[in-house]
Amino acid sequence: MNRPQPLLAIDELHVTLPFKGQPRTVIQRVDLTVPAGSAVGLVGESGSGKSMTARAVLRLLPGGARTGGKILFDGADVTTMSPAALRKLRIHDVAMIFQDPRAHINPVRTIGDFLTEALVTTRGVRPRAAEATVTALLREVGIADAARRLRQRPSELSGGLLQRVMIAAALAAEPRLLLADEPTTALDVTTQAEVMAIIDEARAERGLAMLFITHDLALAAAVCDRIAVMYAGSVVEELPADRLHDGARHPYTRALLASRPAPGSGGSLRAIPGRPLPAYETGPGCAFGTRCSQAQEVCGAERPLPRSGGGGTTACHFPVDPLVPQATTGAGDRSTTHG
Ligand SMILES: Nc1ncnc2c1ncn2[C@@H]1O[C@H](COP(=O)(O)OP(=O)(O)OP(=O)(O)O)[C@@H](O)[C@H]1O
Ligand SMILES: [Mg+2]
Repeated sequence: MNRPQPLLAIDELHVTLPFKGQPRTVIQRVDLTVPAGSAVGLVGESGSGKSMTARAVLRLLPGGARTGGKILFDGADVTTMSPAALRKLRIHDVAMIFQDPRAHINPVRTIGDFLTEALVTTRGVRPRAAEATVTALLREVGIADAARRLRQRPSELSGGLLQRVMIAAALAAEPRLLLADEPTTALDVTTQAEVMAIIDEARAERGLAMLFITHDLALAAAVCDRIAVMYAGSVVEELPADRLHDGARHPYTRALLASRPAPGSGGSLRAIPGRPLPAYETGPGCAFGTRCSQAQEVCGAERPLPRSGGGGTTACHFPVDPLVPQATTGAGDRSTTHG
């Protein structure tokens, strides 16, 4: 049986940015799919290329960026899209939520203007109807006193409230894919949980797909169907979220999991030795090789390609055995059903 085409399919994405007149690689190789309606978590250390990957999906890369590979949204390649098609993608199909809402909202305009503008100018909705729509959306994201908030400016709202406004703005576009780049990282723990629950509910109600970027592996595993792990500009492992803890086979994923405090461990961490490398500092071999306790000679010489197995994909010459082997279902490589 053929699998349906995923909503988003990133295939061997490569991105360079100009640095002192020379192209510098920031994304080495990203392969990633987000099926319609499902949530994929993109995790990895700072600088690994998570935000750059999300931005590439909307072609919101810094000036002079060059991309290789394909980014297919509903079968159409974003990297070669016409300006008109790209505009439609940005307005109607894919919405993005950022870590810092204040950096993405005009401070001098009211929340009401911000929220209704896109509906009025790009969708031709009448101002009255647009206000009713955004009032309902604000209620949905837990802002009860919508009428008052619509008249306020961003500086009058807390970070948590402003992020809810950004979620409402994203939902107003009725997109099919949400790119959420650390949407809760800047918030306090209680607000984080509230905002995450709002995103989760809104997604479930609408059948919205999501690429969820976070440093928090446990959070990613809790809200996503699958997890992709990035290191030095490459996706090094991809697997079902419910297999993250027991099924991870890449030494980097295992090291990341071990560097989190385990419940009852008194908060002890096993830090990964060395520092994470940016993609442009990696040699010809495995980018994680210099920090990997399992590395052998070939790891320094040859870049490992992603290989399927155990329901996921691992780019490693010597993938480790899963902590708990996967139960055999007779369904081949496909271990998890999304839903
Ligand atoms: N505007 C830019 N110009 C040049 N290089 C950049 C720019 N933005 C990011 N980079 C570089 O691209 C690489 C990937 O950065 P990216 O922001 O995607 O990482 P990230 O995984 O999102 O990290 P974080 O977890 O800190 O948000 C890094 O090496 C970073 O230094
Ligand atoms: Mg980032």
